[in-house]
Amino acid sequence: MGLTEATVRPMTPADVPAVAALEAAAHQAPRPAEVFADELDLPHAYLWVLALSDALLGFIDCWVVADEVEVLDVVVDPGARRKGHARRLLSHALACARARGAQTAHLEVRVSNTAAQALYTSFGFVEVGRRRRYYPDGEDASLWSSSLSGSSAASTA
Ligand SMILES: CC(C)(COP(=O)(O)OP(=O)(O)OC[C@H]1O[C@@H](n2cnc3c(N)ncnc32)[C@H](O)[C@@H]1OP(=O)(O)O)[C@@H](O)C(=O)NCCC(=O)NCCS
Repeated sequence: MGLTEATVRPMTPADVPAVAALEAAAHQAPRPAEVFADELDLPHAYLWVLALSDALLGFIDCWVVADEVEVLDVVVDPGARRKGHARRLLSHALACARARGAQTAHLEVRVSNTAAQALYTSFGFVEVGRRRRYYPDGEDASLWSSSLSGSSAASTA
């Protein structure tokens, strides 16, 4: 599954079942398929998949509002991790957001999720705060931000 063979493209309604399956395999409190289907109708929501033939290797879900982008989620198939797929999805999404006027990016991540935090750090994100007991199981959320201007996160990916 080489990087060059897979394609980043907008998520479509036909992708929703596979996206929900990736979500279910990745998170303790996964969002259901209906949430993704509804998001596809939101004008500020940008959802992309990384596709290889008929298979989905991952997806990313962002909202661009005014001059900010919120990265809601990025997920890669457990069998396809550490191949640069998340880096590619995040780079694409941040470049898209910046082209639409976003100047800063924000996200939240479980404090225990060191893999995702390492990914975000490599894009220039820094921790800016915490939300205590944010997740349903009581874990804290770590809040991260990155500037997209100047030597942007997207261009350093
Ligand atoms: C986090 C996640 C999206 C990373 O996907 P991935 O395709 O494996 O990541 P990449 O291969 O693009 O890795 C890019 C960089 O991120 C960091 N990284 C990714 N996974 C890592 C891990 N398990 N441990 C340490 N660093 C990691 C590394 O810096 C890596 O670069 P390197 O491989 O050159 O060292 C994936 O582990 C995942 O889907 N996790 C479950 C869902 C999730 O937690 N999403 C984040 C929600 S906030």
